[in-house]
Amino acid sequence: MKEIKLQTTIRLAQSEELSEEDRLLVQRAIEATASSYSPYSHFAVGAALRLTDGTIVIGSNQENAAFPSGLCAERTAIFAAGATHPDQAVTTLAIAARNEAGLTAEPVSPCGACRQVILEVEQRYKCPVRILLYGTNGVYIINSVRELLPLCFVDESMR
Ligand code: THU
Repeated sequence: MKEIKLQTTIRLAQSEELSEEDRLLVQRAIEATASSYSPYSHFAVGAALRLTDGTIVIGSNQENAAFPSGLCAERTAIFAAGATHPDQAVTTLAIAARNEAGLTAEPVSPCGACRQVILEVEQRYKCPVRILLYGTNGVYIINSVRELLPLCFVDESMR
């Protein structure tokens, strides 16, 4: 039997090491936590994505008393971008989160459903989505959602 090892590459940067563009996007994600509607989890997530033309679209988690009806910040931003700028690819997505103590020290990573949706965006626009995960201890930089989703399922998987 053969063992196959899957590798993931993530870089850890301090905010000062980010480009001005990336720092701004992270700042917008932090600001987006303010519009989170999270009376159940008290966990406010903000997302900000940049499109190829430079437009920034934000999202935040929106909860519901019927829990599965709510939506994560990442998908809120991605679906808003798809609805308002369908011709533009997403180049970078930044995520930040706040619990009752403040901004999280460790970066918060997108849930499985959001990873799958980010993957579809990469496939649809044939453009990798860089992901910036903010924590007060540092920012993870990930070059494509594929780094977070090994053995992923895409449309070609059905052919
Ligand atoms: N949440 C997000 O918005 N994004 C993530 O990446 C993880 C989880 C939200 C969903 C829910 O409103 C709250 O955080 C607690 O799970």
